[in-house]
Amino acid sequence: MQDKIIDLLSKANGYVSGQDISKKLGVSRQAIWKYINALKKSGYVIDSVTNRGYRLVSLPNYLNSESISRFLKTKIIGQNLIVLDSVGSTNDYLKKLGNEGCPNGTVVAAREQTKGKGRLGRAWQTKKDDGITFSILLRPSLAPGEVSAITPLVGLAVCKAIREYTHLDCMIKWPNDIIIGKKKLVGILTEMSAEFDAVEYIITGIGINVNHTMFPEEISHKATSILLETGKRIDSNEFFACVLKYIEDELIKTEFKLSEDIVDEYTQICATVGKNVAFQRGACTVNGIAAGIESNGELKVMLSDGSVCLVNSGEVTVQGIY
Ligand code: BTN
Repeated sequence: MQDKIIDLLSKANGYVSGQDISKKLGVSRQAIWKYINALKKSGYVIDSVTNRGYRLVSLPNYLNSESISRFLKTKIIGQNLIVLDSVGSTNDYLKKLGNEGCPNGTVVAAREQTKGKGRLGRAWQTKKDDGITFSILLRPSLAPGEVSAITPLVGLAVCKAIREYTHLDCMIKWPNDIIIGKKKLVGILTEMSAEFDAVEYIITGIGINVNHTMFPEEISHKATSILLETGKRIDSNEFFACVLKYIEDELIKTEFKLSEDIVDEYTQICATVGKNVAFQRGACTVNGIAAGIESNGELKVMLSDGSVCLVNSGEVTVQGIY
């Protein structure tokens, strides 16, 4: 009911009387008054004037679908948009919707994640309204072997959106962390449901640290947020809509492929290339210099004996970063 009231008020040009709202929505004026008070408590600014009614003055700054939709300029991604107050993991929630046949481009965002998942079995918890945590479901006509470009393309798009919106000098730590200096700002976890020869859907889950003022002790040396870096609170809804637009444009423009130009663009803002790196091969730690990115997104590493090793997943430690 609260959604319907906001929808009605946001479409109105000025005040709407309690009587009109109650007639249109089929509930008593007393009930409308209660819903309006609940909305005010949750951050909506609504002007109420006797004999005139109610007028929506502003929407809350926390993630909400009405505000996001106002800013959203995409054609596909986020046209089916669900914003939850709290969820275990947006990836898991969207997986269920994916199995039920939700459309290409469906986005699930949450103000809080209680069982958020990171890469390599790690956790990605988000306290209410600290981060922008969301997942996008894509149904590309690709074979499972052709999807490797999606994560770097999404990483590139998110990095460009943050640079444009915040003017922060963020970079990509291969494969898809976004960092500022030595600290992580964004993590991306991509999961896939596929048959032998066709992808059913891909879910790309993205966590952006936005309003954190501190992090748990164990990660505080290697995590940061937009607020910590800029000292300013951004409009989360406008920024989120901007991120979705960048992702859609990148995926449409590239048709899910890493062309030479895109690899060049990625390399320019990749903090890994040119640095000493270390990664695990079985039980051994391998050291080398990151020499570049391959056309399938793999990291090319030059080893000390002159041989070249291609890394396609896992954790790569970059000297001087993490
Ligand atoms: C990582 O860097 O380890 C990846 C972190 C991915 C976190 C995001 S938050 C939204 C989505 N839902 C999840 O459970 N995880 C991803």
